Amino acid sequence: MEYELNRDQIPAHVAIIMDGNGRWAKAKGLPRSAGHVEGTERAKQITEEATRLGVKFLTLYTFSTENWNRPDAEIGTIFDLLVTGLEDEVFMKNNVRFRVIGDFARLPKSVQKRTQECMDKTAGNTGTTMVVAISYSSRWELTQAMQKMARQAAEGQLKPEDITEEYISSQLQTSFMPDPDLLIRTGGEYRISNYLLWQCAYTEFYYCDTYWPDFHEEDLRKAIADFQHRQRRYGKTGEQVEKNEN
Ligand code: FPP
Repeated sequence: MEYELNRDQIPAHVAIIMDGNGRWAKAKGLPRSAGHVEGTERAKQITEEATRLGVKFLTLYTFSTENWNRPDAEIGTIFDLLVTGLEDEVFMKNNVRFRVIGDFARLPKSVQKRTQECMDKTAGNTGTTMVVAISYSSRWELTQAMQKMARQAAEGQLKPEDITEEYISSQLQTSFMPDPDLLIRTGGEYRISNYLLWQCAYTEFYYCDTYWPDFHEEDLRKAIADFQHRQRRYGKTGEQVEKNEN
């Protein structure tokens, strides 16, 4: 099915919680790893589609801080896929800039090396920025930022009144990106799972039952079409928004 999209209202930042790899595999009688393999292919395809649509930032929740509690073999599979699945040609062909957020130091050396290579190689690209969240959780990110600000205060460089919303945003790992306009969660769960909590204050949420390995380009277009029918009020009344009052 085709979805009519208004090219002037493409969300600048789409964040995705890619859920359902394991259940997709189980439903097919396959090992969970097969779900992650297929999920990696979707991550690449959806990045290419986001590029075609003109999405500026695509933030993919790939491995949460809590995912460290999964069996070692599954963690190994996901990291192996990150090392082999990040393809320079796909990024260069599509002018994609690659970035990572999360606890980089905690990642295996192979993942650090591969992701750093991709970041360096694509740093000058000007199309979509694909942000992969690995060993990331929002509370971890906020805790890091608060520790950083406490150190600045202890060193006499930060006064209480300097701590504004903008300043807090600037101390987060995500300071290089705008807040998400649209957050998509696949796999039929209705929760945010410690993802971009500060940044999603005014984000539009879109949930679908489709498991991530079945989420194709048209599903992204459907989510964006749905987003384009929302009225973002930021606390105002609908009438104020219609009249474009400040
Ligand atoms: C959630 O499904 C998926 C993950 C925790 C891993 C996602 C990782 C990838 C898709 C690889 C990404 C690769 C690149 C290149 C970005 P789940 O395992 O929690 O599924 P379940 O809820 O059905 O068990």
